[in-house]
Amino acid sequence: MPATTPDGLIAPHGGTLVNRVADNADALKKEAEGLRRIDLSAKQSCDLEMIGIGAFSPLTGFMGKADFESVCTSMKLASGDIWPIPILLAVDSSDAPSVGDRVALYAPNGVLQAVMTIEETFAHDKKLEIPNVFRTEDEAHPGVAQVMKEGDLCLAGPVDVVTVCVDPDGPEAFLDHRLTPAQPRQAFKDKGWKTISAFQTRNPIHRAHEYLCKCAQEITDGILIHPLVGETKEGDIPAAVRMECYNILIENYFHPNHTMLSVMPAAMRYAGPREAVLHALIRKNYGISHFIVGRDHAGVGNYYGTYDAQEIFNELDSDNLGIEPLKFEHAAWSHKAQGMVSGKTFPKLEGDQVFLSGTKVRDMLGKGERPPAEFTRPEVADALIKWATS
Ligand code: ADX
Repeated sequence: MPATTPDGLIAPHGGTLVNRVADNADALKKEAEGLRRIDLSAKQSCDLEMIGIGAFSPLTGFMGKADFESVCTSMKLASGDIWPIPILLAVDSSDAPSVGDRVALYAPNGVLQAVMTIEETFAHDKKLEIPNVFRTEDEAHPGVAQVMKEGDLCLAGPVDVVTVCVDPDGPEAFLDHRLTPAQPRQAFKDKGWKTISAFQTRNPIHRAHEYLCKCAQEITDGILIHPLVGETKEGDIPAAVRMECYNILIENYFHPNHTMLSVMPAAMRYAGPREAVLHALIRKNYGISHFIVGRDHAGVGNYYGTYDAQEIFNELDSDNLGIEPLKFEHAAWSHKAQGMVSGKTFPKLEGDQVFLSGTKVRDMLGKGERPPAEFTRPEVADALIKWATS
């Protein structure tokens, strides 16, 4: 049985919800003026926010060498807790700070995001990281390309976050929905939800996504629709457009008493199976008991098999994982059944099914075509086509 909190919700990963948001921000800002400056990439800045708010519990900072190697080779932190993807601060080795130094971490827009104490520095072993995490070394893979661009030296140590959302007035801040893990936990308690499913997405919600969410709602007290709004690759639909679509969809097609929307400020890695595990652990920290994993979760191109991201969960210690993966078969619209079906619920008939994917929706929008009702609810299609043609 997974551990629970006194509220009856699932315990955070590692047992304690981390909070690295500094309560002495003014003093740290003053200190930062005299510290060595490190400019973060968008991915590092997202990771820092995730650490600060406790979404990456039990991490309190960027990983050290023992965690890095153990994560790459055995999908575990050195403590033994499951962890699938390194969370690193890799910088250019030519200008390296020393162990014991305090450094100031700046977001890509120049805002001071955190102060960090360097506990360890170590070489960034990309040859170890890339094939283990991505199951490929192909630099055409966006996650591989991202790691290849990173520095050769990793700085490890705890962080004290000064600014949680570095662009609060930006189009992708969504402050009303940008919650720390403690906030949904409180909301679930207030609503009396004990079992909660979560839906991760980096796309507008199409009919197959909606089907997965509705199935999950049938077996849990409520669902947290939890889109990723951190860094995504070029070509993905901007988070601001997606948020408009989520709000429209929820208002028109979901039950308000059993649905909640919040955003997750993580960066995408497109690491398929390993990222599915990371996505699940993050949601565990938000108090989620059941996590939806459909076809090719967090995949890109043809790097992963359709159900690899589900099968990886079979290798994990379910007690330590805690959260239950809800595995779904490839869902499609059936003309004959006049609804969403999967390989488990309806036989495949010649020419009957319309297979849906975020890529297909993006392709149609790219050509200025309106996604049909079998793909996307009409109100959502209106918002998408308005954006695509503006
Ligand atoms: S992801 O990168 O966030 O995984 P996407 O937004 O496309 O991408 O998917 C969100 C979730 O829906 C994932 O769990 C994915 O596996 C699932 N999914 C997407 N399309 C389908 C489909 N047609 N059938 C079943 N599951 C799907």
